[in-house]
Amino acid sequence: MASEPTTVTITGGGGQIGYALMFRIAAGEMLGPDRPVRLRLLEIPQGMRAAEGAALELQDCAFPLLIDVDVTDDALTAFNGARIAMLVGARPRTAGMERGDLLAANAGIFGPQGKAIGAVADEDVRVVVVGNPANTNALIAAASAAPEVPVHRFSALTRLDHNRAVGQLAETLQVGAGDIDGVTIWGNHSATQFPDVSHATLRQTQGSWGGMPVLEALADRLGGREAATAWLDDVFIPRVAKRGAEIIEVRGSSSVASAANAAIDHVRDEQLGTPGRSWTSAAVVSRGEYGVPEGIVCSFPVRSGGIGLLGDGYEVVEGLDLDARAQGRLAASVEELVAERDAVRELGVL
Ligand code: NAD
Ligand code: LMR
Repeated sequence: MASEPTTVTITGGGGQIGYALMFRIAAGEMLGPDRPVRLRLLEIPQGMRAAEGAALELQDCAFPLLIDVDVTDDALTAFNGARIAMLVGARPRTAGMERGDLLAANAGIFGPQGKAIGAVADEDVRVVVVGNPANTNALIAAASAAPEVPVHRFSALTRLDHNRAVGQLAETLQVGAGDIDGVTIWGNHSATQFPDVSHATLRQTQGSWGGMPVLEALADRLGGREAATAWLDDVFIPRVAKRGAEIIEVRGSSSVASAANAAIDHVRDEQLGTPGRSWTSAAVVSRGEYGVPEGIVCSFPVRSGGIGLLGDGYEVVEGLDLDARAQGRLAASVEELVAERDAVRELGVL
């Protein structure tokens, strides 16, 4: 028997990422082939026509799982009964900007939306923030929805960085992306993030490399441990951390399909669980894990037993060893997150 429809609200439904998200969600690629969905698209008045046009196209796809689509510029209508809220609507950066430069422009969006979520969303709502700077926007939204919604129901997207890291390793090692396990993105979705492969391994299917730590396979491929470390420091880490800027430079505008894909991965793994993998990466509200100040929205290794199945969504994987260099990289990114939090406090948004 088909399950009850799940209400999924997408903000910025008239924008690029919104457009790349909604058809895949309606096709069942996020919540699976047995879960019907109601889509709610929130826009500002200027974006309404684009969102309405997308809704017409959704209708024309005749997706069996799609129960209905509402388009609105009223946040209380958009979040009413939402089980999943994907906060995408925000200004993207352009060439030469850092994501943090969007703080002043975008911070004002997430307080009112958080408040609306607290007022009308489903009591078990899960919220992922995609709009940049995603970690700090999630902090604002979570603080505004509390106490009606526990802050730990909010997260920010660093799955795109995680997928980028896996993609770079797969290309360098000439293995499939699915053969790499245990990569972590630590910190902020910004150039200070720390993509960490020190606990990553290759799956058993990889012939003589099967089960091997990624660090050893890199040493094998690149001509020794020193060469592997140099590649990680000089090529891999900066490439992953600055990939968003590279996309903007090459494409002329910020990532869209890969961002939507990562957002779908993020929600699917939180809702349905992460069995068979050690962990994935997501920015969640710190409870003080790994020395990160409580309340900061920081990317960690996370796993989920699903929601309403075996678990309560994402939880941080604790107990991983971080050497002094890794701790230094995490501390630098956390320092930036603390500075962003302080800046929005000064703006009076938090
Ligand atoms: P876009 O400009 O194409 O679309 C944004 C849409 O949001 C527009 O239609 C706009 O009208 C709407 N909008 C603005 N304010 C709104 C509000 N208050 N309520 C509802 N809708 C609102 O931009 P895009 O390419 O879709 O990117 C959206 C955001 O996602 C940007 O901030 C971008 O930097 C960010 N992003 C994040 C990641 C990530 O990994 N976290 C990846 C890519 C992009
Ligand atoms: C990305 O990582 O591609 C997005 O955050 C967009 C950006 O501004 O880099």
